Amino acid sequence: MDVMRGLGERGKEAGLSGVDNLLLHFTPFEEDWSKLPVIVKGEGCYVTDERGNRYIDGLAGLFTTQVGHGREELARVAAQQIKELGFFPNWSFQHPRSLELAKKLSEIAPGDLSATFFVNSGSEAVETVIKLARQYHKANGEPQRYKFISRKIAYHGTTMGALSVTGLPGFKAPFEPLPGGFYHVANTYQDPEGAAEAIEEAIEFGPPETVAAVILEPVQNAGGCLVPPPDYWKRVREICDKHGVLLVSDAVICAFGRLGEWFGIERFDVVPDMTSFAKGVTSGYLPMGGVVVSEKVQNTLRSGAPMFSHGSTFGGHPVSSAVALENIAIIEREKLLENVHNLEDYFGSELKRMAEGHPIVADVRGMGFFWAVELRPERPDGTPLEGDEYRRYFKGVLSRKLLEGGLICRFDDKDEPVIQYSPALIADREVLSKIAEITDSALTELERELGYRS
Ligand SMILES: Cc1ncc(COP(=O)(O)O)c(C=O)c1O
Repeated sequence: MDVMRGLGERGKEAGLSGVDNLLLHFTPFEEDWSKLPVIVKGEGCYVTDERGNRYIDGLAGLFTTQVGHGREELARVAAQQIKELGFFPNWSFQHPRSLELAKKLSEIAPGDLSATFFVNSGSEAVETVIKLARQYHKANGEPQRYKFISRKIAYHGTTMGALSVTGLPGFKAPFEPLPGGFYHVANTYQDPEGAAEAIEEAIEFGPPETVAAVILEPVQNAGGCLVPPPDYWKRVREICDKHGVLLVSDAVICAFGRLGEWFGIERFDVVPDMTSFAKGVTSGYLPMGGVVVSEKVQNTLRSGAPMFSHGSTFGGHPVSSAVALENIAIIEREKLLENVHNLEDYFGSELKRMAEGHPIVADVRGMGFFWAVELRPERPDGTPLEGDEYRRYFKGVLSRKLLEGGLICRFDDKDEPVIQYSPALIADREVLSKIAEITDSALTELERELGYRS
């Protein structure tokens, strides 16, 4: 498959231009952007580029397209809603679709999470969490609680508040100074046994009466699907309760079936005080994010503050809300949560079986349809791969071979190098085993080039 010819030439053939006019997100300037595929069509678990090459979308766009691509039902409800009421805000007004969606979310969210504030993205959802937590404590008579604790390496978004929650110093450096009051502790990969206690230590150091909230993903994405030890979340819940600190689940990736449950956190049998969401709520067909809050948070705000002083023109957009309702209905109708539960072990075992033949693989881990293969960044004799060499082999050879094999997934190295997978929740055994098979070939090629095999 010839995916790496320059877009300059390919683009011209396909009648596309604009490569010098579009600034890409998180894409190094040193890469030749004209060589990146132009994705023109999507269908189920597959996408097609402008030359007709078909790929398995092994990342569901960006951990997003839960029900797969090309859904007529979503097109139909969006068109219908545009005709009925194309736009109206949630500022001092209501409209049927955001009311219905908020009601539905309260039914499927765990415990007493029962009221939703809608925004348009995951970053805005995390931004909203920060404001909700600070205003909650003010309304609750503890205005000095303003600090947040999250985990190292964790990614929580790009707006200034969400970026402050993010535990990746390299992502923040270009934009400093950031707002103060954000602290980062060991994640469950760095310190599996001590990670919960690290949160308590940070709260105690706070001191506790200054700490507003702890913000964690159910399974941390950055670093490669960091599934926590079984008792981690319960312990963190106890610690937060002991110190009067709110516990927030950032479920921007983990919700809407990614872990086989509606909000992901159900896998750990804990009810947080708030959960953020975005991505999968509409399967990405239209932008939407939000925060579902507990009765305690809602009641305290309603009784102790004149209003929640936050808003966004498009929050709860009627067309996004209509699409989200239908997306949730599809997940229910087609029993996609069950599909993830039924096939998660199969997916994991296919990846693990594949990894057995590859000395470069250090670990395979994950949950639901959210898995990562960790690689050793070294030659067979243990010499570390660094700088240009590292980039040539991992970002060059590996990423190219995966793509040429017909798989879109993600090579990521926010911590150790990992290949990340997050297919649509409609994926069947054939798609899941094909993902492992294409990875197998790409790793074989990488190992050959690095001298692991002849
Ligand atoms: C856990 C988490 N929170 C927040 C965000 C930010 O979401 P968005 O890109 O929609 O702003 C992301 C994005 O991947 C995420 O993974």
